[in-house]
Amino acid sequence: MAVNQSRRDALLGAIAGFAGIGGAAAAYSMYKTWEPLPSVKAAGTTRVDISPITDGEMRTVTFRGKPVFILKHTPDMKTDEERDVKIGSGIYTVVIGICTHLGCIPNWEADKKVWHCPCHGGEFDCNGINVFGPPPIPLVIPAFKIDGNTLVLGEEGPEYEKIPAKFKA
Ligand code: FES
Repeated sequence: MAVNQSRRDALLGAIAGFAGIGGAAAAYSMYKTWEPLPSVKAAGTTRVDISPITDGEMRTVTFRGKPVFILKHTPDMKTDEERDVKIGSGIYTVVIGICTHLGCIPNWEADKKVWHCPCHGGEFDCNGINVFGPPPIPLVIPAFKIDGNTLVLGEEGPEYEKIPAKFKA
């Protein structure tokens, strides 16, 4: 009787063990199914090597179908502690290049150090702050992360989290 009892206990223990392993495997499978594929995650980001950008240079990259302006400041440019992006020893302005008035694409005028909107004459300073004309708010800052010398657009890093919400996309 005692032998049968211990066999039954051992069998029940084994069944419970297998059920636990099976449950964990099923949960892991479900997790892997729900998690976006790496290709899907990467599709939402744009990586920009900022090391070739020289002082005073303004580059436009495309991010999710929109222009993003990346301006490397010269020492004489006005700084903005709330909006500046510091990468290494450089200071950058990183903004979505769409006018906050009615959506035209402003042009960088290096001699005046402003973005000038061709549609209604709005202007944004080197930090993307609206300084003239009808644009009601500054150029918007897209989500970004800094990875060494690479700016990763589309991911939120600690530098992006420090920027006040009123400036973000
Ligand atoms: S769309 Fe830029 S000033 Fe109107």
